[in-house]
Amino acid sequence: MDDRAESVVMEGLARLEYRGYDSAGIALVTDDGVASEKRAGKLENLRGALEAHPLAAGRTAIGHTRWATHGGPTDGNAHPHRGGDEDKLALIHNGIIENFHSLKKELLAEGVTFDSETDTEVAAKLVGRAFDQTGDLTSAMQQVVNRLEGAFTLLAVHADQPGVVVGARRNSPLVVGLGDGENFLGSDVAAFIGYTRHALELGQDQIVTITPEGHEVVNFDGSPATGKAYEVTWDAAAAEKGGYDTFMEKEIFDQPHAVGDTLLGRTDEAGHLVLDELRISEEQLKNVDRITVVACGTAAYAGMVAKYAIEHWTRIPVEVSLAHEFRYSDPIVNERSLVVSISQSGETMDTLMAVKHARELGALTISVCNTHGSTIPRESDAVLYTHAGPEIAVASTKAFLAQITACYVLGLYLSQLRGGTFADDAQAVMKELHEVPAKIEELLGTMGRVQEIARFMADTRSVLFLGRNVGFPIAMEGALKLKELAYIHAEGFAAGELKHGPIALIEPGQPVFVVVPGPDTPHELHKKVVSNIQEIRARGARTIVIAQEGDEDVVPFADEVIRVPRTSPLLQPLLTVVPLQMFALHLSTAKGLDVDQPRNLAKSVTVE
Ligand code: G6P
Repeated sequence: MDDRAESVVMEGLARLEYRGYDSAGIALVTDDGVASEKRAGKLENLRGALEAHPLAAGRTAIGHTRWATHGGPTDGNAHPHRGGDEDKLALIHNGIIENFHSLKKELLAEGVTFDSETDTEVAAKLVGRAFDQTGDLTSAMQQVVNRLEGAFTLLAVHADQPGVVVGARRNSPLVVGLGDGENFLGSDVAAFIGYTRHALELGQDQIVTITPEGHEVVNFDGSPATGKAYEVTWDAAAAEKGGYDTFMEKEIFDQPHAVGDTLLGRTDEAGHLVLDELRISEEQLKNVDRITVVACGTAAYAGMVAKYAIEHWTRIPVEVSLAHEFRYSDPIVNERSLVVSISQSGETMDTLMAVKHARELGALTISVCNTHGSTIPRESDAVLYTHAGPEIAVASTKAFLAQITACYVLGLYLSQLRGGTFADDAQAVMKELHEVPAKIEELLGTMGRVQEIARFMADTRSVLFLGRNVGFPIAMEGALKLKELAYIHAEGFAAGELKHGPIALIEPGQPVFVVVPGPDTPHELHKKVVSNIQEIRARGARTIVIAQEGDEDVVPFADEVIRVPRTSPLLQPLLTVVPLQMFALHLSTAKGLDVDQPRNLAKSVTVE
């Protein structure tokens, strides 16, 4: 590669900007060492800074756009981070290093100083120090990755090894682009698709070293490895979407990561929940006697799921209010109330106004949010970030699953903090939650039939959804997705409410989705919902039943059965919603509609 390294990296960052854009940075290996520049805000800010103070030319560069996880989106927290003797090393990172606290403590005790609050800088200092001992970037990387826990992709350059970039990956994406006299690394092929279509996929726990002439792959234990070579056939637009047709589909398939990443770093070595982001004292949290969730749209349905779980685990009464209704009612909240706002964007004006009002009334406020540095977390006493990564499609999918996950974590944390009947269960539930991403993955592999059903139903004018307990908000979310994406009249009902009115809507051929609680759900709810299916079937409804694997009771009354993997009753929403998202996606596609940007909607609604 010639001196265009900087422009190639900046172009790659622009192509990947959809992955996260709260800050950006670049490091260039020049004749005088490693030069770097970084800025909070969009890539444009970095571009401006580079124009104002150009870096010397270089042939090797790394760059990063950030979606903050640890530490807000500031210049200082932006990547790259520097390490080693004379700061000769620069490093960038995607993911979350779960054990960074203990590693940082160790480094601080040795007198290392830090310029940021990020987990990344800990890795930069460690790799820098390892380089000072070994004189080789690949061995330095290898030493350090074996000490890290969590999910990460790391890239590093060092002034003493110009022309070398070393990358490592665990649970986070990294692909190699193989050029002619130049090589590339990127989170996905979109970064380098303008230069080469020869790509190399890396396996889990592998390190790659690239130079202009070649590449070498080793496993974290140092043993030799080879990546899997393939040709990229996508065009640039498809590459951005990871090869999927739409961002929504990509985001649905991202959901195992959204849940898994949101769970990362929440427990200590002993398995106890630690929420270090929470800036409300334990004493205050112990005194809480009422929780109110405020949110809008899909986020409000996440709150409704959370209500069942938090009440069960903590025995604190939980109320869910649509934020715009909460604000202009006469809400009963005071110093002992905890108001939990849920918002993907952190900018929804209705939710923001509710949070401000709650604070005026003296309540403690926690924001469950996916966007670092956004307004709602800033206006709240504390924040619990979801780690779904940027959500581009207007209709929320992966953020919803991450919100439910974060609320479960919050509920379990409160239960542990306050003691009581369910406190001992927290660890067992966390263990089960950690198994959910693999179950979502498995479920996503079986969605072919849902796609077919959606295609057959392209002319349908009305769809009903039934659910009970945690399945009730999922029924409403299924209906909302269909309204948003396919512009079809859809309603979600509590299955028990059916006989009190909605059953009058059932006429021959009416499609009804039924979210069936697992057979082990308390109070015989499973049996009761199976009876509901019979009632509507008897009146001619076409029943599409979402049931757990092995649940045979539904079979005689279902026109279609969609199976979801088994999990305990309160965690089922993380699975049962997936086929409903897929159904809406495919129905919208079958109707030829714009999946990512449905009419009349906006991703974040910043007006009241
Ligand atoms: C808008 C979007 C919905 C979203 C809601 C809440 O109405 O169209 O998809 O659920 O806002 O957004 P938030 O960013 O606060 O989660």
